Amino acid sequence: MAILEILKYPDSRLKKPAKEIEKIDDGIRDLAADLLETMYCAPGIGLAATQVGQPVRVAVVDLFSQEEKRKPMVFINPEILEGEGEELLEEGCLSVPDFTCEVKRHCRITVRARKLDGSPIKIQAEGLLARALQHEIDHLNGILFIDRISPLKRHIYRRKARKAREVQRTTS
Ligand code: NI
Repeated sequence: MAILEILKYPDSRLKKPAKEIEKIDDGIRDLAADLLETMYCAPGIGLAATQVGQPVRVAVVDLFSQEEKRKPMVFINPEILEGEGEELLEEGCLSVPDFTCEVKRHCRITVRARKLDGSPIKIQAEGLLARALQHEIDHLNGILFIDRISPLKRHIYRRKARKAREVQRTTS
């Protein structure tokens, strides 16, 4: 297992939709293990392969970051079948450092995916799990949470990120 580098906005690879996985082989199993390790190390509650520069449809989620309570979930080719209700909640992202913003998403969703062993699953999610899954599936489609906020707030973030990059350039 390895800790992978997480791509940061505005890396263009974050905008690329990921490919469907046809065969779950050792490469995919290793990638899932690395994604989990990278997510725990960050730390975060979700990570998509897109964020480590691997354009394939696998995402990991664990709402319990404390080591003794961990409950890792791996989703291969996840897709949202249904969504219900809407709520605004504060979100952040490992690929969008130092910024959080309220994002409107469904409160409850039905997701279909495959597990690492290839078996199909269909889950109904709500609360934080529904939120994390929508965020990660967005990543697999090349969408960041800042693409879902108001143009004004996005502008504020972009300006801040540009400034941070300039500071980094002049100090390194
Ligand atoms: Ni994210």
